[in-house]
Amino acid sequence: MSHLSTNLVHGDDNTFRRVPDVIQPINVTTTFSYNEDPEKLVKAKDIEEGVITTRDPVYSRLSHPNSSKSEAVLEQLLDGHVVVYNSGLSAFFAALTYYHPKVLAIGNGYHGCHGIANIFTRISGLKQVSLDQYDQLGPGDVLHLETPENPFGTAHDLSFFVAEAHKRGAHVICDATFAPPPLQTPFEFGVDLVMHSATKYFGGHSDLLAGCLATKDIKVKNQLVSDRTFLGTTIANLDSYLLLRSLRTYEMRILRQSSSAEKIVAYFATNKDKYPALDRIYHSSLQKEEFVKQQLRGHSPVFAIELKTSELAKRLPSRLKYFHHATSLGGVESMIEWRAMTDPGVQETLLRISIGVEHPDDLIADLDQALSSLS
Ligand SMILES: Cc1ncc(COP(=O)(O)O)c(C=O)c1O
Repeated sequence: MSHLSTNLVHGDDNTFRRVPDVIQPINVTTTFSYNEDPEKLVKAKDIEEGVITTRDPVYSRLSHPNSSKSEAVLEQLLDGHVVVYNSGLSAFFAALTYYHPKVLAIGNGYHGCHGIANIFTRISGLKQVSLDQYDQLGPGDVLHLETPENPFGTAHDLSFFVAEAHKRGAHVICDATFAPPPLQTPFEFGVDLVMHSATKYFGGHSDLLAGCLATKDIKVKNQLVSDRTFLGTTIANLDSYLLLRSLRTYEMRILRQSSSAEKIVAYFATNKDKYPALDRIYHSSLQKEEFVKQQLRGHSPVFAIELKTSELAKRLPSRLKYFHHATSLGGVESMIEWRAMTDPGVQETLLRISIGVEHPDDLIADLDQALSSLS
């Protein structure tokens, strides 16, 4: 079997290679002419009944060449059947639509996922409980585990939560956006559905919105694809082209970003006393629990810090040279966010930091001068 870096470049070689161009074109069309050979026309009924499993593109709300090609590459990366969406939240909406649980156990994590859960509570009475109330789950319910967790980059014990949910007949969705492969591979721990905001590391350049779900069960994929047709949440044409371009260099980026973050966290954890403004650092590399070592082959490029006061936290971003003060993460450029700007549920002393591909020593020097200037 070939390696990840090779599969990221060649995983879609046999999927919709319709022109000789090395870089596949951006298809702006919404509809595709049917085959001129009447013998090759495929009925929707045969697709629905699984008599025929592949067909040429029909209409771009169903799929289009670059959406299929990005799915082919993501299948290599996530080691499952993959469905792509036009955002990470569309992927989570699709997952909850698919399982339609009566009870959802959900941790803190990304506030947007709570927004989706609240829609289900409003329209169908979904009961939401916290992660440690897993004893309230029953058959067909869902435990949604985001690990490592936004905005802290700290990890939860996947094996533990999967065992507790499965014992009760519930499904587990894992939002693994913060530590995508090869840093973490949730299927190894028995997760049913893996979710990613592909806007982050898979996109990697802060210029596309996408999401995906991965499953080991082809029947689940087929249902998700069918639902997506009617939800209208397929990835857009340009975004799928950009996603495909980005996936080619994904492995190099994620490994660099992860090792840089670990180095930067280690430096500030060791030298914390030099910075009177700095109160706390959060990251899975600082966690001592045994499961962290078993679960993570590398740490998230995202971590969080707390400063002594909210006023200091508000001021730090403008003192930095190499960090954009903006929301989001996963891009090649480092970012910092005074998290109170977008997340109503966090303490106002908190800053989320996303490490890019710049040299880690330059980022340490930049954070050092900015933190020192506050003291
Ligand atoms: C952990 C996590 N999950 C899901 C999302 C939502 O992704 P998107 O912005 O692509 O909808 C985000 C966005 O920040 C996130 O951080």
